[in-house]
Amino acid sequence: MSLPGHVRIVEVGPRDGLQNEPASLSVALKCQLIEQLVSTGIRHIETGSFVSPKWVPQMADTEQVMHQLQRTSGVIYSVLTPNLKGFERALSCQPSEIAVFAAASEEFSARNINCSITESLERFNPLIEKAKVQKLRVRGYISCTVGCPYTGDITPQQVAWVAQQLNEMGCDEISLGDTIGVGNPLACKRMLAAVAHYVPLSQLAVHFHDTYGQALANIYAMLEEGIATVDTAIAGLGGCPYAQGASGNVATEDVVYLLNGLGIQSKIDLSQLTVVSHWICQQLNRPNQSKVARALHPQRKKP
Ligand code: HMG
Ligand code: MG
Repeated sequence: MSLPGHVRIVEVGPRDGLQNEPASLSVALKCQLIEQLVSTGIRHIETGSFVSPKWVPQMADTEQVMHQLQRTSGVIYSVLTPNLKGFERALSCQPSEIAVFAAASEEFSARNINCSITESLERFNPLIEKAKVQKLRVRGYISCTVGCPYTGDITPQQVAWVAQQLNEMGCDEISLGDTIGVGNPLACKRMLAAVAHYVPLSQLAVHFHDTYGQALANIYAMLEEGIATVDTAIAGLGGCPYAQGASGNVATEDVVYLLNGLGIQSKIDLSQLTVVSHWICQQLNRPNQSKVARALHPQRKKP
């Protein structure tokens, strides 16, 4: 088992994190957050989503965020687009990547995007074709890859089938989401093995929410299997409206600390990340979910 030499972090805090925060941030603060995250060395960042503002009001201002953002060259600025309407809205803001999102669970698909899995894939097809014409990178998400809040267990074959469809449609990368954070290393390895029959490991990312505290263990297991792209959120922002007590994504700081300890390059400055982490928690008036950020608190007094 050899670990990758470099891991690409995809920072999803400004989207997956903020979409679940009860407090809404202003456009200026969202831009500041994204710019500060980029200054830590992060090179791939989700800035928002073009979904229905009735469904997710926290993301209603993504267009303004994308327009007001000071961009840095070489950084991938990604946005979620659930349908052609979302894609057309996104195009006016020149993202570097768009992301479509499907689920491995029918019930979750219905509740999240109001259609079946097959209908969602049919929606994505023309959208991905248009994105390719515009030479945009396309990311495909699969939610509920190890468990669904409504129907429980999900088989690896269900996930593999959706991954195969997204791959054949032309997704450059597929992110495997443990949306409610119920996975463990064994279940995740089984799921990944099934998916890897259809999609090369180099085109796969993992996306763990940390509800049951398994995210770091799962990430380590995935690194051992050859995964080298990991989604994270600063300060572990977010939550999941579909699972009681669910937490946000695994914290970026905790993953960078793990990578540093393993001697894996991420080119992200951990101490700067910690400063951003405390700053955003202050803005949102919420506790910091990153254990590493708490341990490295700049104002922590020695006992
Ligand atoms: P719908 O109600 O079925 O849509 O929602 P519709 O096509 O019937 O249209 C209804 C109305 O919405 C119409 O307006 C449309 O124009 C409008 P009206 O005529 O009533 O005034 N509409 C839109 N407006 C703005 N932008 C759009 C858009 N589309 C339609 N793109 C829809 C279907 C997909 C839009 C809705 O269900 C939705 O927005 N869902 C998004 C939910 C969401 O954002 N969930 C979180 C992201 S997924 C996630 O977090 C998981 C992930 O992190 C991975 C993991 O953790 O596993 C990615
Ligand atoms: Mg998520």
